[in-house]
Order: sequence, then structure tokens, then C-alpha cells
Amino acid sequence: MKHFISVHDVTNIDVLVGKALEYKTHPLRDKLLGSGKRIGCLFLNPSMRTRLSTQIAAQNLGMEAIVFNVGAEGWTLEFEEGVIMNGSTVEHVKDAAPVLGNYFDILGIRTFPSLKNREEDYSEQYIQQFKKYAGIPLISLESATLHPLQSLADIMTIVEMVGSKQKPKIVLTWAPHVKPLPQCVANSFAQWITAWGKAEFVITHPEGYELDEQFTACATFTDHQDEALRDADFVYVKNWSSYKDYGKILCTDSSWMLDNKKLSNTNVARVMHCLPVRRNIEVSDEILDGVNSIVTLQAANRVWAAQAVLSEILKHN
Ligand code: CP
Repeated sequence: MKHFISVHDVTNIDVLVGKALEYKTHPLRDKLLGSGKRIGCLFLNPSMRTRLSTQIAAQNLGMEAIVFNVGAEGWTLEFEEGVIMNGSTVEHVKDAAPVLGNYFDILGIRTFPSLKNREEDYSEQYIQQFKKYAGIPLISLESATLHPLQSLADIMTIVEMVGSKQKPKIVLTWAPHVKPLPQCVANSFAQWITAWGKAEFVITHPEGYELDEQFTACATFTDHQDEALRDADFVYVKNWSSYKDYGKILCTDSSWMLDNKKLSNTNVARVMHCLPVRRNIEVSDEILDGVNSIVTLQAANRVWAAQAVLSEILKHN
């Protein structure tokens, strides 16, 4: 593995999940693998889980991790080619990225979409520019359209719960939110579940919330949430803004929130969410504080997912 930007960078999901599960049992088994190496984690946007789990993962491999909150503390970066920089941006990525490529052995980047210009967001220009100009392996810490470290941890969590041989029914359900959110987590989860190919996969959302079809090839769809939830083994709850009417909130119907009543229709489903979650907007207190929720396990598994990815990159570069 050279870079980790999407599922397309992964040769075998089951092998990578197996590696993550091994690290969970033996966190320090490769404690010298990254000795003398350094990862730079650049955050153009806020984070708790991704930031801390990546740092712990690097530390477990003997690497130094340096976090730089570019969005809050760094120079404002410019990404347009050929632009006359007479506005608010201070430094071009073409100048900043090669410097970072000299400071670090691996670069991690978190960027969010604008949710204003779909073509621009879906071109992934920020992460692609860093990849082009840094000249070192690049890991997505969540990009404009995808969140692969989250998806790897999600599949690891599912495998951990059911074993890799079964074919669970997994439902991705849209939930309300007070702010327009990116499609990243939903896109990425759908992309990984499709590539994994070991689940019955249903996506349910109100009209107008259809995801980009490039990520949802193996899914079936319904706008009847109750129908989707029937016999589900896992319910992944997530809000996203509209892809079609780009970045817009089209539905505020609170009946889409997941609560215990809706779970009664499922196969004692485990409830997933990437966090942070808006309680009693996306998911009810009773679920998040109850036995069906595996959101903490999911977040804990972020460490082992990141460690497996860093390990693969260190071994092959
Ligand atoms: N799930 C996730 O990426 O969490 P953070 O935004 O806190 O990193």
C-alpha cells in the first residue's frame, strides 16, 4: 500500500481487518517497525477520534506523530492552479506540501467539503494536491467525500461481532441533523461494504438524499425506514446533506431518528454511528445508553484500523 485514500488502495479488506484485529490483541507486536519515522497529521477541520487514534497507532509502531491544526493555527492554504494570490490565502499547497514531504515519512490530511460546489468537492482537489506535491505516502484522515479509516474500523467492528463467515444484514439509515453534513461517512461505508461483498446491504433515506451511485453498487434502497430495518443485524445511523440538491437539508422529519421502538423490528440489531452524534436528534438516549449500541467499540477500533494501515505503508515504502 502506497497511499490510503479510498478502498481502492486496499488489496484485500479481510487481510487488513485481520491485521487490525491482531493489533487489538497484541498492540506492541511491531513496536519497532516505525522507529526513526515520523507522521505529520494535518487537520484543516476539527477532530477528536481520528486525531487521537492515529497518534496512538503511530506510537504503538514506534513512530513519532506530530499534529498540526492547519485550519486553526497554520497559514491559509491556496489550492487553485495559476491563481493570482492577492486574496486571503497566504501559501500555495505547491510550496507547503514539498516542505512537509521533507519533514515527514507519512502525511495524514483531514479536509472537509465546502458543500457549495459539488464538482469541486468530488474532485477531491485538496487531498489530491497534497498527494501530488508532498511526494510521500498520504493517508486520508477524512476527505471531502470519503472517510476510509472510519470505514475500516466499521467493518472490523462488524467482523468482530459476527465473525467473517456470516452474511449479516446491514442497514445504513439517514437521520435528521441540525446542520448540513458531508456525505463522506455514508459514501465511504457504502463503498467499503460493496467492496467487502459479505453483507446484505440496504440504504434507507428520505427522497432527495440519494448518494452518488459510484459508491452504492451493491445496495438496495427504500424510503420506508421500517421496511429497511426488518431483520437487520446492524443499523448504521448517519446524517448527510443532499448530494442531488448539493449540500442542502431537504428533510427535518424527526420521525427518522432511531429509537428503541424501531429496533423491535430488527434482529436485535447492533447500532453503529461514527460519532460525534447528536443525541435525541439522530439517535435516542435510550439506544446510545443501552445494550444495542456499539458506538464506543467502533471508536475504540479506530486505533487498530489506523495501526494496520500505518503498518502496511511502513512495510511497503
Ligand atoms: N468519527 C470521526 O472521524 O470522529 P472525529 O471527527 O472526532 O475524528
